[in-house]
Amino acid sequence: METLRHIVLFIHLIGFAILFGAWAVQAFGGKKQLTGLMTVGMTIALVAGLALAAPWGLPAGASMNYAKLGTKLVILLIIGALLGIGGARQKRGAAVPPVLFWLVGVLTAVNAGIAAIW
Ligand code: HEM
Repeated sequence: METLRHIVLFIHLIGFAILFGAWAVQAFGGKKQLTGLMTVGMTIALVAGLALAAPWGLPAGASMNYAKLGTKLVILLIIGALLGIGGARQKRGAAVPPVLFWLVGVLTAVNAGIAAIW
């Protein structure tokens, strides 16, 4: 079970890498647009994250930090809302407001920071 949990964590990290990587490509030298790949990465991180939020496959004596997980979930939902709002604007041919675009990357980095530091 512990190995399976590590595999789900690996999938969670792949989701994070796809989301942040897709955003970084757009942010640094790209057109600063929101892309479907960001949504794919976020969805992978969400599904694997929710699976990891249940207390299974933990080493003996380990416990879960639900305040931390709840905070990460709220931040991910905000990222999802930003991708939804920005993506809809793009489809209408309008530009994505810079603050909305940058927030996607910053909040993704914040969530990784919370995961590693809290
Ligand atoms: C964009 C959103 C997210 C990012 C960037 C992210 C990033 C990360 C990273 C980098 C780790 C590895 C940290 C480590 O092993 O020390 C991690 C672990 C983990 N994440 Fe996420 N995550 C996100 C969303 C979520 C969500 C929504 C949940 C569940 C509600 C979640 C639950 C977990 C759990 C349970 C772990 C295992 C280690 C721990 O307790 O911190 N994550 N996440």
